[in-house]
Amino acid sequence: MIFITGGAGFIGSNFVLDWLSQNDEPVINFDKLTYAGNMNNLASLRQDSRHIFVHGDIADTAQVASLLAQYKPRAIINVAAESHVDRSILGPAAFVETNVNGTFGLLEATRAYWSALTNADKTAFRFLHVSTDEVYGTLGPDDAPFTESTRYAPNSPYSASKAASDHLVRSYHHTYGVPALTTNCSNNYGPYHFPEKLIPLIITNAREGKPLPIYGDGQQVRDWLYVTDHCAALRRVLEAGKPGETYNIGGWNEKTNLHVVHALCDILQRLAPKAHGSYRDQIVYVTDRPGHDRRYAIDARKIERELGWRPTESFESGIQKTVQWYLSNQDWVRDVQSGVYLKWLEKNYMQREAKPEASD
Ligand code: NAD
Ligand code: TYD
Repeated sequence: MIFITGGAGFIGSNFVLDWLSQNDEPVINFDKLTYAGNMNNLASLRQDSRHIFVHGDIADTAQVASLLAQYKPRAIINVAAESHVDRSILGPAAFVETNVNGTFGLLEATRAYWSALTNADKTAFRFLHVSTDEVYGTLGPDDAPFTESTRYAPNSPYSASKAASDHLVRSYHHTYGVPALTTNCSNNYGPYHFPEKLIPLIITNAREGKPLPIYGDGQQVRDWLYVTDHCAALRRVLEAGKPGETYNIGGWNEKTNLHVVHALCDILQRLAPKAHGSYRDQIVYVTDRPGHDRRYAIDARKIERELGWRPTESFESGIQKTVQWYLSNQDWVRDVQSGVYLKWLEKNYMQREAKPEASD
C-alpha cells in the first residue's frame, strides 16, 4: 500500500480519487484536517475499504512511525502543507510549523522505518515530496522558464518554507540514502480547489454577484496545470523516477491573471448567463500582494524526456471543465463557505460509542 499525507486537500484528494480509479492498491490517507482539508472531497470513498483515513499531524513522528510499522507502505507521498501564499503573509508561523518542522518529523519517521527494511524493500521504497515552482522565485518577461537547476530564490514565507522542506528531503537522500524524489509543480486548478485561490474564488464570487478582485495590474503570469495532469505526473515519478532527482511539472500554459479572469467570466456567461450585463463588470482592481512574484513558468522537458509525461489538458479544455464542476457542485461550495465541512471530525467521532478495550 501507499501512504499519502495531506490527502484531504485539493491536490491530495484528487490524487487519492485518481489513484483508486486506476488500481486497487490501498491508500493510507494521513491528514491533519486544517481549514484546507475537506472530507467531502472523499465522499465517494466512504464505503471503500481501499481508503483508510487517519487523522494526524506530519510533525508527530511517533504517530507516523507507529502507522508505518502497522501498515508497512512501499511508498510515502508527502502532499501535506500549508499552501496559500496570502495566508503565509498574514501568519507565517503555521507554514514553518508544518512545511519545515512537519516535513522534518515525517522524514525522521521515514528514516527509521526505511532503515529497518530488508535490502530488497529498501531499494524498492520511495519517498515522493510534492513541492512547488515558487521556490525558484520570480521571472522577468523574457527570462527562460525554471529548470531543475534554477537557483532557489523564494520570496514569500510560503515558498521559503517549501524551499526549506525541499532541502531537508534532499539531505535525507544524500546523507542517509533514503530513496527520495522531489517534484516542483506550477499552479494547479480543477475540482475541489479551495475557494480562496484565484480560479475558484472568481467562479464563486461571480455567481454570487460579488467583486472579482485583481491584485495590482493583473499582468502577473502563472503556468496553469489541470490537477489530474499533476496526479498523472506524480504517479509516473513514483513509478519510474530516479531517487535523488527532482522533476519540474508544468502545463506549458502561461497566462496573465487578467486573461484567466476574463476567460472565467466568458465561460460563465455562456454556461450561466447573467441577466443584465456581463460578469466582467464585476472586476475590481485591488492593492497588490506584498512581494508579489511577477511570473512563474516551468520548463517541463526533463520529465517528458526521461519519464514520458506530458499534460493532456489544454488551458481551454481544463478551465471549461473546472467551471462546469463548480456549477454542478454548489453543495460542496456551500459547505465550504458555511464551514460545515469542518464539522467532519466532530460528526465522525460522535457517531462512535466508546467501547471497553478489546481483549485478545
Ligand atoms: P491544500 O492546502 O489544499 O491541502 C493541504 C492538505 O494538507 C490539507 O488537507 C491539510 O489538512 C493537510 N495538512 C496541513 N498541515 C498538515 C499537517 N501538519 N499534517 C498533516 N496534514 C496537514 O494544498 P494543495 O493545493 O493540495 O497543495 C498540496 C501540495 O502541493 C503542497 O505541498 C503544495 O506546496 C504543493 N503544490 C500546490 C500547488 C497548487 O497550485 N495548489 C502547486 C504546486 C505545488
Ligand atoms: P493564488 O491562487 O493565490 O496562487 P499563487 O499565489 O500560489 O500563485 O493566486 C494566483 C494569482 O492570482 C497570483 O498572482 C495572485 C492573484 N490573485 C488575484 O489577483 N486576486 C485574488 O483574489 C487572488 C486570491 C489571487
